[in-house]
Amino acid sequence: MPQCSFDYRGSVVFVAGGTSGINLGIARGFAQAGAAVAVLSRSQAKVDAAVLALQEYGGIVLGFAADVRDAGRLEVVFGEAHRQLGSIDVLVSGAAGNFSAAANSMSGNAFKAVMDIDLLGTFQVLRFCYPYLRKPGGCVINISAPQAFVPMEMQSHVCAAKAGVDMLTRTTALEWGAEGIRVNSLVPGPIEGTEGMKRLSPPGPRGARQIADSVPMKRQGTAADIAAAAMFLGSSAASYISGAVLPVDGGWSLGGAGLIGQILSGQSETERGEKPPQP
Ligand code: HXC
Ligand code: NAP
Repeated sequence: MPQCSFDYRGSVVFVAGGTSGINLGIARGFAQAGAAVAVLSRSQAKVDAAVLALQEYGGIVLGFAADVRDAGRLEVVFGEAHRQLGSIDVLVSGAAGNFSAAANSMSGNAFKAVMDIDLLGTFQVLRFCYPYLRKPGGCVINISAPQAFVPMEMQSHVCAAKAGVDMLTRTTALEWGAEGIRVNSLVPGPIEGTEGMKRLSPPGPRGARQIADSVPMKRQGTAADIAAAAMFLGSSAASYISGAVLPVDGGWSLGGAGLIGQILSGQSETERGEKPPQP
């Protein structure tokens, strides 16, 4: 667990996709550090539960049910968040979808679903939050994934979408830098107990151990590890960091991250001789 303390009292933080997993962990970190926090996701039930959890820290919390693919709804949501909270200091864009599917069998609509949520969704979140970002001083954190730069079997849709997210990070950092807005990508490694790892890693304790062993630091990460990095990127300690793509993954993307694709396509077990080769 990271030992760090940040003071976000008086700051406004908006977390798109902030109602579960890593993004809720990020929202928790900022709320605990004193920020007013808004979260957004599709499910009203998840929004309500997240708001209740975040209110434990004593600050202002807003929740919005919205789909990041719905531009009109985002325009309304960010206008309302600004009306109630004022300028947004930190925007986290982390809504995403994932499933395991081979490029040669997935439908165009399946590929498009992930592109629309991860890439177009991130663009729209940034686009409609932009008028309300603090200028100067605002900061955007896009949640990327190792798939952006580590090719993985069964993940062509996610690899393409997250690579696009990182390019969006760099182009908006270029376009918005003069206004004093910083834009960075934060790249989590395998984070324990999350929907993403439930969908991608082999089941059970043995699967979790296999993933942990593929990380140079020999453990999966926690949502708190990612929250600490997000709070660093949002803080004045990072005031000259913009356009960066920051892995927070215990070194996983240096070599071990490709294991997921091998597991999903069945290569890994075959190579270790634990499954007889197919005739
Ligand atoms: C093949 C699939 C599929 C699968 C869906 N589709 N699941 N194709 N294999 N397992 C296809 C559908 O058949 C359909 O195509 C198209 O995708 C859209 O499906 P819908 O169900 O209509 O989409 P939607 O309701 O928009 O839901 C999006 C979703 C869903 C991505 C499919 O799983 C979702 O909402 N996920 C959000 C939660 C999530 O995934 N969290 C994990 C994030 S982790 P057709 O042709 O039939 O119309 C992450 C990175 C982890 O992003 C990195 C770890 C290292
Ligand atoms: P998660 O719990 O499923 O988080 C995804 C969030 O996005 C949820 O709050 C979900 O809520 C919301 N969401 C999904 N589709 C949406 C849409 N169309 N519009 C609005 N909100 C939407 O998954 P996670 O595993 O914690 O992943 C969180 C982020 O970290 C993602 O960006 C993922 O790519 C990234 N990441 C994860 C890992 C990992 O180890 N898990 C590793 C690298 C990167 P609703 O269902 O209510 O919409």
